[in-house]
This record gives sequence, structure tokens and C-alpha cells, in this order.
Amino acid sequence: MLARMLTRLMDSQRPWTKPLGDWIHGIDHAVFHAVPMLRDLLNGRWLGHPLHPAITDIPIGVLGLVILFDVIGQPVAAWWSLLVGVLAMLGAALAGYADYADTDGRARERATLHSMLMLAALALYLVSLVLRAGSISAAPSVVAVALSVIAWLIVVTSAYVGGDVVYVDGNMVSRHAFRGSGTKWIALEPAEVDALGAIPEGRPVKAKLGINTLVVIRNGGTILALHDTCAHAGGPLSDGALLAGPGGPIVECPWHGSRFRMADGGVVGGPSVYDQPAYEVRPREGGGWEARRAT
Ligand code: FES
Repeated sequence: MLARMLTRLMDSQRPWTKPLGDWIHGIDHAVFHAVPMLRDLLNGRWLGHPLHPAITDIPIGVLGLVILFDVIGQPVAAWWSLLVGVLAMLGAALAGYADYADTDGRARERATLHSMLMLAALALYLVSLVLRAGSISAAPSVVAVALSVIAWLIVVTSAYVGGDVVYVDGNMVSRHAFRGSGTKWIALEPAEVDALGAIPEGRPVKAKLGINTLVVIRNGGTILALHDTCAHAGGPLSDGALLAGPGGPIVECPWHGSRFRMADGGVVGGPSVYDQPAYEVRPREGGGWEARRAT
């Protein structure tokens, strides 16, 4: 009941979150895609986990301490907590904007609302910080305390909205989170074969493996295969480009440009922070191929 009410409230912000989000996204996307190393660093590819949710608890916790220290009359501790909290908010914001560069649809609208609320809270915290800076060992003014309390309530509200971006809209969630890893060999059915019955070389080809769809490539006498659904947001890898890499062929997702090694599914370029499920392929008795999920 409460969740439905809050969803309606968030949806009602669409008249401004959509145009503003599209505008900010245009700039954000251009900036982060111009510097892929920075985007990968802030997305968390090196960690194998999205960085933004891993660090957002720091400002929420530390800024909560500001209220506690104000209540128990510890102005110096409150001031330092406020400073650390503001710096942590800036770090979380940077990581958040890297994720934002590849959001679409409702996730982008929600993320816009989330980021605007966080920026409003950050502005209030900065004013509170300045008001306290004159003498950090003296009791802060009522206005400085009130601003940090209001800002914390905005932060918590915004965190709820940010949670929706992940848990409801599935942003930055691995598309293979619930995929099992069966070990049974199953017949592989490529969507295309040439006149000799071979999988065409030099480009990704779609193939069915039971209920799963794979992307396969022929690399000389070897068939390399990954799940076709991009771990980042579900893009069809078989519609992507095939690139050469130091560790062998790489497939690039057509939606946001994540890159995966065909040999083992390892992610070599974001925004995906997750590897892609890889499959072993071998010739099948009587012709054709069979495949199973690689361990
Ligand atoms: S769906 Fe986003 S990179 Fe593939």
C-alpha cells in the first residue's frame, strides 16, 4: 500500500524528470564514453561489482552520526563527520553518474530524481558546514543543525528512490543472476550455416541451445560461444561487432558497448561489471555441434 503510493508519487515527477534526465544523460554519456577507463573505474569493472552501491552506505552512515554528535553535544566530531560525509557523497555521486551514463527509460527518470534529491541534500550540507566552520568547537547554530537534519531526511528519501532503480528497474543487476549452470551436452542449432554446413566465420552468429540463445563465432576450427543476453542490460550480443583482442576475439554489445572475451566470457570493457556466461562447444556424433555451460 505504502510502496504503491510512493511509486505513484515518483511516477508523478515524470514531466520534469524525463526531459531533465534526457538532457543530463546526453552530457553524461558523452563525457564518460569519451574516457572509457574512467567510466570502467567508476562503474566498478575492476571490482566485478557496481561501485556506486558499494560506497553509498558510507555517507548515509557518517552523516547520520552528525545528528547523533549534535544531540550529545560533540560539535568537533559533528563537524568532522559532516566533512567526511560530504566528501563521501561526492565520491558516491561520481560513481553514480558513471552508471547513469548507460541508463534508459524509467530507470533514467528514477535516477534523475535520485540525483536531484542528493544534490539538494549536498547543498544543504555545504551550507551547514560553512555555518559551523567559524568555530568548530562551539555549539552549532540551530539553523546549522536543522539543515543537517533536513538534509539527512532528503538523503534517506533519495536512497529509497535509488534502491528502486536497482531492485525495481534492474539497473546494474546481472542479467544472469538466476541462470543455472547445467552440465548436460545439448544440441546446438546455429541460426545460419554456409553451403558446407559450417558456421560463417568473421562475425557473431545467433544459435539456440535448448531454451537459451547463444552468440557463437567460428575461430578457425574452434567454435566459441557465450550467452547472447548481455549481462549489463540484456542487449543481444549476436547483433554486436566482433573485434580482435590480445586474448582472442571479443564481442561488443550493440546497446552500450560492453566487451566480452569470446574464449571465457570475461568482461574487458564496461559498462558491464559482470562476466558473460561462456559455453563449451564440441562436434556432435553424426554431425553438427553440442554445447554446455562452461564451469
Ligand atoms: S546491454 Fe548495456 S552493454 Fe550490453
